[in-house]
Amino acid sequence: MLFRKPRLTAPQTQAAAKQRMLSPSSPFAIREAYNSIRAKLLFTGRGEKCPVFAITSAMMHDGKTTNAVNLSISIASTSKKVLLIDGDMRKPTVHRYFGLENKNGLSEILAGLTNEVKIRKTEVENLHVLTSGQIPPNPAELFGSKQMDNLLAYVKDFFDYVIIDTPPVNLVTDAAILAEKITGYVFVVQSGKNHYYELSYALETVQQMNGNVVGIVLNDVTGKAGSHYGGYRSTYYKRGYYRRGYGRGYYSSYYSGYEVKESTESLTGDKTGDSGGTNQA
Ligand SMILES: Nc1ncnc2c1ncn2[C@@H]1O[C@H](COP(=O)(O)OP(=O)(O)OP(=O)(O)O)[C@@H](O)[C@H]1O
Ligand SMILES: [Mg+2]
Repeated sequence: MLFRKPRLTAPQTQAAAKQRMLSPSSPFAIREAYNSIRAKLLFTGRGEKCPVFAITSAMMHDGKTTNAVNLSISIASTSKKVLLIDGDMRKPTVHRYFGLENKNGLSEILAGLTNEVKIRKTEVENLHVLTSGQIPPNPAELFGSKQMDNLLAYVKDFFDYVIIDTPPVNLVTDAAILAEKITGYVFVVQSGKNHYYELSYALETVQQMNGNVVGIVLNDVTGKAGSHYGGYRSTYYKRGYYRRGYGRGYYSSYYSGYEVKESTESLTGDKTGDSGGTNQA
């Protein structure tokens, strides 16, 4: 096939999202690919009490959320307690994978609107989710806040691993702001879509913030295995391998293309929250 229809939207329904979720019935090649990525992450995080990995990519629709969800499932399957945080406060979708309500989540905690950390159980054993909450006017600022440090310090007492789904590095600054708060980044590269200079620029951005890039996942590799999953494989990022020197601002025109809903739905003053834990899956 010469042309592939671009996938421009995140899954809109739980059913569509579920199709992409890793399960014991996923094709062997897919499970093995995630096992291999997981092994590298577990190795990288060794010695740390609760390693925190942000899943990110250069551009939108590269497969960040799909991989954040599936890596979390993969790690949870080794009996490690995993918390998946939906850190894409601009285009939150993690809740759809697990059929959860997206309220009283990360944005409310970081904005100080609630003191309660509403961590939801999922149907996947050992996997818990903190949804993104309502779309705030200032996601990057919230990520950089002291509350984010406090939240991570708090959850590290309860979990073995924390995985954070984030927005694309070349479009908004949110993911890069986490650089010094986390163990490292896993970059997702969409096979046949991302240009190397997009990746190069994104890698530079997080490195300039002292971020640690622990791996790159090549997503949606076309192959025989897993027709509707595409394929996955991982590779280690080698420092200096990618060409350097693309100026900042190169991607500024893309920024407006990212469906940033800033200020359209600001946080309300709901400080009560529900008693939560709802898992509608
Ligand atoms: N390996 C894959 N095979 C088939 N479809 C995939 C694969 N990875 C992602 N998709 C699909 O591509 C679309 C975008 O994926 P996803 O939402 O994970 O990307 P994203 O990088 O999180 O996007 P955004 O930047 O909008 O947050 C979704 O419809 C998802 O189901
Ligand atoms: Mg996403």
